[in-house]
Amino acid sequence: MKTPIIAPSILAADFGNLQPAVEMLNNSAADWIHIDVMDGVFVPNISFGMPVIASIQKHAQKPLDVHLMIVQPERYLETFKQLGAEVISVHYEACPHLHRTLQQIRDLGCKAGVAINPHTPVEALADVLYLTDVVCMMSVNPGFGGQQFIERTYDRVAALRNIISQVEKTNTLIEIDGGVNAQNAPKLIEAGADVLVAGSFVFNAIDPKATIAALKQG
Ligand code: DX5
Ligand code: ZN
Repeated sequence: MKTPIIAPSILAADFGNLQPAVEMLNNSAADWIHIDVMDGVFVPNISFGMPVIASIQKHAQKPLDVHLMIVQPERYLETFKQLGAEVISVHYEACPHLHRTLQQIRDLGCKAGVAINPHTPVEALADVLYLTDVVCMMSVNPGFGGQQFIERTYDRVAALRNIISQVEKTNTLIEIDGGVNAQNAPKLIEAGADVLVAGSFVFNAIDPKATIAALKQG
């Protein structure tokens, strides 16, 4: 089985102790640090904004994978780049000019990501995959950590993997976000996932570092 990229979501960390949480991730097998930005408009919850990300950036030694659950994300792309984002994912459902937005992310020198809600057909991405470095496939409805994994995701991963394989010279990564745990992780990898985001499964564990290492090993 191939080794996945593991991206723990800082949303599930103790916000009163972010520095130790980031340092734990620095010293773990985590590959990326997943940052969930919510605006209370695109999703029914507000998480955190720029000053908090600046504090995370100060301590982070791993790439920041920024998941924007916000309307009009194009207004802030440059700011997120300055805050250290290496991957910027915008929502398909929030971007009427997705093609342009992805190009803008790449022009900033970041990896361009598209996040899709559980109801959005994966086929809708076919025409932008050549501009997409990462598809962040939501396996819960975005807005909250700690939700239950949607089982239908396995079929969606396999279908998207098939579409990606038909696009020439495209190496788009499939990232799974929401409800990931030790039970579904191996099945997701088998279905074709490359990146696993995990929030509560990591941060609610007695030993988060060992949990990250276990996810990485499949
Ligand atoms: C949900 C966020 C996820 C969330 C994952 O809207 O995009 O990244 O933090 O948390 P868990 O792993 O707890 O479902
Ligand atoms: Zn996320």
